[in-house]
Amino acid sequence: MPDQKRAVTIVGNWKMHKTSEESKSFIKELLPLIKDTPFKVYLAVPYTLIKPVAESLEESHVVVGAQNMNDADEGAFTGEIAGKMLADAGARFVILGHSERRKIFDESNDFINKKIKKALACHLQPILCIGETFDERESEKTDVVLKEQLTGCLKDLSEEEVEKIIIAYEPIWAIGAGFPATSDVAEATIYSCRKLIEQIFGKETAAKVSIIYGGSVKPENTKQFLDRPNIDGLLVGGASLSAETFSKIINYQEELVP
Ligand code: PGA
Repeated sequence: MPDQKRAVTIVGNWKMHKTSEESKSFIKELLPLIKDTPFKVYLAVPYTLIKPVAESLEESHVVVGAQNMNDADEGAFTGEIAGKMLADAGARFVILGHSERRKIFDESNDFINKKIKKALACHLQPILCIGETFDERESEKTDVVLKEQLTGCLKDLSEEEVEKIIIAYEPIWAIGAGFPATSDVAEATIYSCRKLIEQIFGKETAAKVSIIYGGSVKPENTKQFLDRPNIDGLLVGGASLSAETFSKIINYQEELVP
């Protein structure tokens, strides 16, 4: 695979947390703490917070996005939200296929594929989540499962489209578990994903696409992941809810200076 310098992206995923007041104080605290970061910083917030958070981030380099969307433009889909509505509210990216959506809301690779296409059409950058369960890893099915997820979710996309997507490898057993994958496991699995993308979309695309790691990321384990050549960033759940903790992840290099 050709050597390629890819940007580092740190994504916070608030899941179903925070009111508008809480989001305001978070941003007020976070921005001065991360003003010198060389990394891209994304915040995936609940739908109701997209507009206010986008407005408070206007002068900053932090990008706001959503955690899901429907693949339809509009219609009788009570409780759903369309990509163009997210973009209209100020979202620039959208997390798709998170394991919580796959498991609790039964989302299939096919449905996620349709959402990715719609997100791209709405100029929203998709962050596609993939990952295996503990049992799948134990029974050595990780490669098969990830191949199924990647081929299904990226079906019929062009190289240019795939290059716009961020892929988040999140082993399901590491999410919210308090213990992450080792950096060896994360690096090796992400390397396999990149190889698979190379087989389908070619060397150039595989070298350009950002693949990040998620699952129990904390300030203390950030360095071990970001030191690895194939890991292009982090998807952070629980540790993104506190501005102080999230800033320590973003500033991990400064934190290392004695
Ligand atoms: P966690 O969540 O950092 O709390 O493990 C990660 C995620 O679900 O994206």
